[in-house]
Amino acid sequence: MSIPDICTCLGAGGILGGGATVRFGKYGASLALIDIDQEKLDKVVAKLQEGGVPSEKILAVKGDVTNPDDAKKVVDAAVKTFGKLDILVSLFKRYNLRESLFTKSLQFLDQVF
Ligand SMILES: NC(=O)c1ccc[n+]([C@@H]2O[C@H](COP(=O)([O-])OP(=O)(O)OC[C@H]3O[C@@H](n4cnc5c(N)ncnc54)[C@H](O)[C@@H]3O)[C@@H](O)[C@H]2O)c1
Repeated sequence: MSIPDICTCLGAGGILGGGATVRFGKYGASLALIDIDQEKLDKVVAKLQEGGVPSEKILAVKGDVTNPDDAKKVVDAAVKTFGKLDILVSLFKRYNLRESLFTKSLQFLDQVF
């Protein structure tokens, strides 16, 4: 499997986001992380550091990715720090998608997709 140099993860403090982040870190990727929850973000950063990922390969930003300014902040910071951005992993929210999408509002669909 080919691992990207630079990865940005939205919802990096979550179950899947944290897991993906730790795995990408293990394979040497530089990581730009964003989560709305500072405590969860701190935990994943600590896990990365315990796993041997150097601090200069980790950029963690607290923010709400549904807010365009916060989303731009992490992308701009990634490009400024690492020079480019290879992939974006979006795992930022837990939604109940068991109900039909036809019952959802346009605002909801915009947020998810
Ligand atoms: N865990 C599973 O088994 C599973 C299976 C299938 C699909 N999914 C989907 O994958 C996604 C992630 O799942 P998870 O289990 O990791 O969820 P999670 O709740 O553990 O993680 C979500 C993370 O996103 C963060 N977050 C929420 N809103 C945010 C916002 N506006 N801006 C920035 N960060 C925000 C939360 O603080 C949290 O750290 C969800 O959409 C979920 O429905 C999960």
